[in-house]
Amino acid sequence: MSEEKLLLIPGPSPVVPRVLEALARPTVSHVGPEMVRDLREACDNLKRIAFCDEGQPFIVAGAGTLAMEMALLNTVGPSDRVLVLSQGYFGRRMADVCAAFGLQHDVMESEWGRAVVPEDLERRLAEKSYNVVVCTHVDTATGACAPVEDYAAVLDRTGSLFVVDGVCATGGVPERMDAWGLDVVLTAAQKCLGTPPGLAVLVLSPLAMEKRRGLDRVPAYYADLLRWLPVMQDPAKYFSTPCVNEIRAFAEGTRIILEEGLEERFERHELFASALRAGLAALGFTLFTDPRFLAPTLSVVRYPEGLEDKAFRAGLYGNGVVVAGGLAQTAGRVFRMGHMGNLTSAQVRFAVEAVERSLAALGFRFEAGAGRAAVDSVLAA
Ligand SMILES: Cc1ncc(COP(=O)(O)O)c(C=O)c1O
Repeated sequence: MSEEKLLLIPGPSPVVPRVLEALARPTVSHVGPEMVRDLREACDNLKRIAFCDEGQPFIVAGAGTLAMEMALLNTVGPSDRVLVLSQGYFGRRMADVCAAFGLQHDVMESEWGRAVVPEDLERRLAEKSYNVVVCTHVDTATGACAPVEDYAAVLDRTGSLFVVDGVCATGGVPERMDAWGLDVVLTAAQKCLGTPPGLAVLVLSPLAMEKRRGLDRVPAYYADLLRWLPVMQDPAKYFSTPCVNEIRAFAEGTRIILEEGLEERFERHELFASALRAGLAALGFTLFTDPRFLAPTLSVVRYPEGLEDKAFRAGLYGNGVVVAGGLAQTAGRVFRMGHMGNLTSAQVRFAVEAVERSLAALGFRFEAGAGRAAVDSVLAA
């Protein structure tokens, strides 16, 4: 049975053949000319993807959680205070990472499905100052997209370093580091960047690099960015063997993004999100996330009365589409559909048709074809 299913979980996202071909190329020397060229190009492309001309990119074997750890350990000093803005699961994880390393931190948490509003952040910062403020751009559990640009405007007046978790946003939602004043964007390979999992990815602004250089030592060895800096600046150097094939596939992924154009890519994510949501609404589904905070990269969808989570997702799997269940308190009440990376409009149509086939097989009452028609009307607009 073909494993080829349309992967619409909130990451990993579908990996296109061009990237898989790059991944499958013979493994070359990690300090050889092919790797030097590709790692250098991937770093340059990443600066453009994060809109950070003088930024310092890091691409290291690991996952998004390693990137979270690296971002904190390399910007937070022993007497610093961190404010974690949380709108769900991964905001809490950021607080857990702080706790794991004994970093002084406070958490401002919004209701699930929403995000902390900039006015509340401003009020909080008037009461207490923080050296580093961290937010989750898009929380994958709640589908809520934080108003990062507005946060940055508030923080611009306080001088706090601003760290953005873009694991479910970078490459699909704008993160204009220079223009907005973001100091660290951390992300991972497997979501909007459309490449296989296995890379922790960060871009640090000159200010964030200066902060790192100002820290005597950090409680890390592999996660110490100053140990990776020489490799990122000259990939012919060695610190630890990078995952050669993944990095070359990642380089190919960044080429695809820049060929599409960043603004075009951001618009496509918005368009596909609207199309899928229109299709699902026409079939009786509603959204969990507050409309003010809808993320372009995934949808967290409430089940209508009478539709059972596991049966629905199993049916959809049988029809060739994989979606994820809810996390924590939303488990069984919602499903999460990712619509990020290098998706095509044909895949968007295929997804809503598969939902219709699954509903029909479950005997759920709906207007046949209504979902597909709604998707077509948005995509045609
Ligand atoms: C917003 C966000 N941050 C961090 C992570 C952790 O990334 P990883 O699973 O690659 O460790 C995820 C993973 O889904 C995420 O969505």
